[in-house]
Amino acid sequence: MDYQNIDVKPVSGALGAEIFGVDLSRPLDNRTFSEIRQAFDENIVIFFRDQNITPQQHLDFGARFGAFDIHPFAAGLPGHPEVMPVIKEADDIVAGFGSAWHSDVTFYERPPLGSILYALETPTHGGDTLFANMCLAYDALSDGLKAMLDGMTAIHSAADTYGKNSYAAQRNAAGSRSMKIRTGDDAEATMEHPVIRTIPETGRRALFVNATYTKHFKGWTKQESLPLLEYLWNHAIRPEFTCRFAWRAGSIAFWDNRCTLHHAINDYDGQRREMHRVTVIGERPYFAAA
Ligand code: SIN
Repeated sequence: MDYQNIDVKPVSGALGAEIFGVDLSRPLDNRTFSEIRQAFDENIVIFFRDQNITPQQHLDFGARFGAFDIHPFAAGLPGHPEVMPVIKEADDIVAGFGSAWHSDVTFYERPPLGSILYALETPTHGGDTLFANMCLAYDALSDGLKAMLDGMTAIHSAADTYGKNSYAAQRNAAGSRSMKIRTGDDAEATMEHPVIRTIPETGRRALFVNATYTKHFKGWTKQESLPLLEYLWNHAIRPEFTCRFAWRAGSIAFWDNRCTLHHAINDYDGQRREMHRVTVIGERPYFAAA
């Protein structure tokens, strides 16, 4: 389909495109929605500028893509539990939410299709977000390593992020008041996912491991898994697989969580940053043998 209602301008050689010609505070006609969906599938992360949307308009846009996830550990907005504030206060003493390479909540049975992040307040400089294309990361592996990883399973868990002795527990103990994040025993649960997953819309394969939630390979010990996982985590974020987005108030990023990693850069101590995130549930990850 040719783009008729929107303009799509890639921002890097790896992934990411800026979308022009859309006002997300207004209902989208079907043609414009289909073009945005195509731009999302083709570019893996899409960006909008100069938007001015309410939480309800944010949800109305997200609802075109599927049902919502409510984050199990981070609180949503009063009256809009599906809209999760992502805030770092100017005087906070701990790193901002999401400031490590990850895909969102891959400890779920059905991790998100994508997250739609809207900037309300941004630092004068800093606070950019990095994205990495996990389809390119898969494509660049050797045939030998692909053959080994295709069909393998990995174990994901939120234990180190939201469990009793986790990063979130340390944030709370340090008195961080930027976000309400709970910890709990339910974070210790584990989930199996294919190491390589197929993206239904494009048929492409994506590397589906991340340093935040992937703990080990199924049937392998943690010690056996770690060297290969570390190789894959480092491989996935090679500069030529990435793009970087500099936020302004009114900017939106919508990433395909099935085939990207992202990292919110924590380089703006002393300044406030406030975003709203809406997360759309995806399909159960699967690997389709050729
Ligand atoms: C997130 O990981 O959802 C937050 C990303 C960001 O704040 O840039």
